[in-house]
Amino acid sequence: MAREGFVDLHNHILPGIDDGPQDWEESIRMAKVAQEEGIIAVAATPHNIGFGREVNQDLVLSLVGELRARLRREGIELEVFPGIEVMVMPEVFLFLEEGKAFTLNGSKYILVELPYTFYPVYSEYVLFKLMERGYRPILAHPERYVYFQNRPELLKPLVESGLLLQVTSGSITGELGGKAREFSRHLLQEGLVHIIATDAHSAKWRKPAMREAVEEAAQIVGWDKALAMASHNPKSILEGKEVREVWGPS
Ligand SMILES: [Fe+2]
Repeated sequence: MAREGFVDLHNHILPGIDDGPQDWEESIRMAKVAQEEGIIAVAATPHNIGFGREVNQDLVLSLVGELRARLRREGIELEVFPGIEVMVMPEVFLFLEEGKAFTLNGSKYILVELPYTFYPVYSEYVLFKLMERGYRPILAHPERYVYFQNRPELLKPLVESGLLLQVTSGSITGELGGKAREFSRHLLQEGLVHIIATDAHSAKWRKPAMREAVEEAAQIVGWDKALAMASHNPKSILEGKEVREVWGPS
């Protein structure tokens, strides 16, 4: 990535594959919003399960290829990299073998999510097993899970063991509700956030917006760390390099 700007590690920009955009026109509108927001690159990360259609690495790579070509034709300067958002479950290890789960742009980093309202008993086992096998899981939007909102102490030991946390921009700004806003600010204050990403699903509601969230994060952690979360860390991840580690309370 030659240019400077935000790098969005979590984005449902690929069409017709999950609860993101349903056609190429909407994907292109999302890319335009991303560009206006100062985003220079996105990881396309559809959900791996839950929306009927089988998602695998071949499908994601071919859609990423088509999106890149369409962006070139439209003159939109936005780089796109392949990824997937993987539900934490014991089958993950089988999915990894079958190409139904895979890492971000071929790195060791894998974007994972959990159910919103209950914390499955196997979650920690699966996360630790992934790390034992050399993967570095990035947990999507911990601030939106009810059980972490109610018991924030569950998160710190996981982070100390190597789990990376991605907070969603719409949580910081309040678009995703008061609880998510409050808890995302708590996580920022505690120094537990490595990445800010959009988790965008359309060009309007849950759009790829970054600027306002990064400004709000900077009020809490300072500009240096806020830009590490929205630019340097996600860039390092897509390039397979090490991230800047947790820094403790701000
Ligand atoms: Fe997502």
